[in-house]
Amino acid sequence: PTQLAARAAYLLRGNDLGTMTSAAPRLYPHMWSWDAAFVAIGLAPLSVERAVVELDTLLSAQWRNGMIPHIVFANGVDGYFPGPARWGCRDLAANAPLGMQTSGITQPPVHAIAVQRILDHSRRHGRTTRAIAEEFLDRRWPDLVRWHRWLAHARDTSENGRITLFHGWESGMDNSPRWDTAYANVIAGAVPAYTREDLAHVTDAAQRPTNREYDRYLWLLEEMKTARYEDTELSATMSFAVEDVFVSAVFSMACEILAIIGEDHSKPRSDVRELHYWAERFRKGVISTTDQRSGAARDYDLRGGNWIATDTIAIFAPLISGGLDREAERALLRTFEGPKFCGHPDLRYAVPPSTSPVSKDFRPFEYWRGPIWPVMTWLFSWVFARRGWAERAHLLRSEGLRQASDGSFAEYYEPFTGNPLGSMQQSWTAAAVLDWLG
Ligand code: DGY
Repeated sequence: PTQLAARAAYLLRGNDLGTMTSAAPRLYPHMWSWDAAFVAIGLAPLSVERAVVELDTLLSAQWRNGMIPHIVFANGVDGYFPGPARWGCRDLAANAPLGMQTSGITQPPVHAIAVQRILDHSRRHGRTTRAIAEEFLDRRWPDLVRWHRWLAHARDTSENGRITLFHGWESGMDNSPRWDTAYANVIAGAVPAYTREDLAHVTDAAQRPTNREYDRYLWLLEEMKTARYEDTELSATMSFAVEDVFVSAVFSMACEILAIIGEDHSKPRSDVRELHYWAERFRKGVISTTDQRSGAARDYDLRGGNWIATDTIAIFAPLISGGLDREAERALLRTFEGPKFCGHPDLRYAVPPSTSPVSKDFRPFEYWRGPIWPVMTWLFSWVFARRGWAERAHLLRSEGLRQASDGSFAEYYEPFTGNPLGSMQQSWTAAAVLDWLG
């Protein structure tokens, strides 16, 4: 284990560009929003100071409306498409930040977890380290609240406690079967010519989204550019608009974490009250999507006007937010541990696949259509620990570490063989290992 931790630390150093850590060396040579949060979680046990720098870089690219963009582009680094020119944020978006080049969409709000881990680790150190963490919190508190306020306002205009996404990339689970029907209704117009860079790095195209999927991904960018990335315009015009129950659950939890941090650090009472309120509103929003007996959660397609029920890891959203009644929660935990997910008899490791192996949508190699993502294993192990389910948390951690012991730090893994897929040397996979062993 100490050797594995050393290798993970070495990997993060290798991916360190100075003030940001690339999500992966070749496939993702920039900073991604939720990757950066997980990276900070992995850096915290190594260096609180460096973890703070990571979040500082991300937050300095925050948009004027409060959005944290999904990509912060590293200066002068090529090899990723769509890059800053294709997004066109600097020219089109009045809300885009001045100094930095970013994409024009967002990603799941896991950042409060990173702030909490940084504060936790800083307490194990001397006064100087604690002061660095506290100074960071004081300086960035208003930005963190602004970020949450933007999600609660701009992305939940109907105030039903569910976050709306205008691009599948915003879910972080790009090609999950969750989005298939919503994408089927996206009629792609003329997309300016492009060359995919991802297939130059992951040469087995079967592990990545298809060209058809990419055409739609890029068409949505064109729609966003027409809307000049204005929040109200996007709501009115985007042909893809879904309420993501997983993001909503993460947001509820993140609001609660931030509220508790705010209480512990004497932040403005009005901020804390608002955060508690959002935590509750989104918890209810998540629960309102669930099946009463199974507890499974669903997304909602705003354009199609229909619920989306697919057997993916997102059905477990209520385990993250809490709020189910006892019976339904037990049932959902049984599904998590049973043969449809972690307990499937052919799985190499007892960790949750992104899509259930018994689902007709399941593809063992294809990105979010089946493979196991170690960072998701980490998220559930952390959430379970937080909810007081120590044994379950421990099991996910030990299975996750067994999987990671191959040393590839892959982005995702084939569930049955355990073969590493996608990008190797993925920063957030190393971060998960570091937190588990830290
Ligand atoms: C990619 O390029 O595959 C990313 O997941 C999009 O953010």
